[in-house]
Amino acid sequence: QVTVTVEPSLQVAPYACQRRTPLDHPHPALVMALETLAEAALFEGEEARGLAFTRAASVLRCLPRALRGTHELSGLPGIGGHSHRVLQEVLEDGVCAEVEAVKQSERYQTMKLFTQIFGVGVRTADRWYREGLRSLGDLQSHGTRLTREQQAGVECFEDLAVPVGRAEAEGLACLVLDAAARLLPNASVTLAGGFRRGKPHGHDVDLLLSHPEEGREVGLLGPLVAWLEEQGLLLYQHSQHSSYTTTAEPSSSCGPLDRFERCFTILRLVLPATGTGVRAWRAVRLDLVVVPHSQLPFALLGWTGSRHFERELRRFARHKREMVLNSHGLYNMQQGTFLPASSEEEIFQHLGLDYIPPTLRNA
Ligand code: GTP
Ligand code: MN
Ligand code: MN
Repeated sequence: QVTVTVEPSLQVAPYACQRRTPLDHPHPALVMALETLAEAALFEGEEARGLAFTRAASVLRCLPRALRGTHELSGLPGIGGHSHRVLQEVLEDGVCAEVEAVKQSERYQTMKLFTQIFGVGVRTADRWYREGLRSLGDLQSHGTRLTREQQAGVECFEDLAVPVGRAEAEGLACLVLDAAARLLPNASVTLAGGFRRGKPHGHDVDLLLSHPEEGREVGLLGPLVAWLEEQGLLLYQHSQHSSYTTTAEPSSSCGPLDRFERCFTILRLVLPATGTGVRAWRAVRLDLVVVPHSQLPFALLGWTGSRHFERELRRFARHKREMVLNSHGLYNMQQGTFLPASSEEEIFQHLGLDYIPPTLRNA
């Protein structure tokens, strides 16, 4: 008997939503190098350049086996000249000089620090940098004006820099479910975001609230947030009313933002009992999103991520299917109709895509 070992082929489909991307992949160093450059490009407001590096990194994330050499890069889609040079350098020397220089630079380090603050985006971070600010201490000593959100972000900075564990996220989901079900029997709570993709840690907890009867979810968020407040669990909250209307033109170009009623919070996560003198809680970011039942599959798909997977789904829908996908629905532009779905699987079917389960959406 002859045994033939077939190496997994490195054929990669052009859109990330056509690919299966697990959490673990064979090239952490290469991906890290490209994603650092992507991040640095975004810090300079260079979206297109950032996206090019993100695309290249995402292609490496889906490889079923390690590259056997630089020659195998040429068969892959989405690896531009610059990315190719970076990958070649890391494959040959272990590090890329450009990436190391970026990581060491004051600009990159400061922008990374400032954008890590809850409520601070690239533009604010850049303004502070140009004003000469370099540290959290500088914000205070210069009397920098902060929004209420940023103020909370600075106060909780160290806590929020600690990753949230899966058990902690599930504990918070249970806490919210118990409270929601008391206020509204049969209310549902779904843990979305990175945890649904199988990540063991996250920077926050993303929860979708709904109810099997359409419309019953309306009015749930206010009392739920009030209950958290009464329990002394709420360190910060910022609510947004639903701005969804069926007459509004469907759009996927306005980025990942949707129009659900939602609440961005910082919560006091109660920690297991420890010795005396040790603080018994830690601040954690929690996002609550209220979703009508009929939109739940779309919201689930939209809030599970990854960000790049979402971007690619929308790009595929628009360019390959003339459809508009967002977290509320799927719109067929030729027919001028919305395509309903009762599961994520059905949305992939409408798009003519093989179903990709959440744990393989780590693009
Ligand atoms: P970690 O929290 O760092 O583990 O990563 P994550 O993948 O959970 O990221 P994040 O919490 O930022 O977002 C979760 C998913 O929800 C991502 O895929 C985002 O694209 C999506 N998302 C975040 N904010 C919004 C929003 O305002 N509207 C919509 N529709 N999606 C959002
Ligand atoms: Mn998240
Ligand atoms: Mn989030």
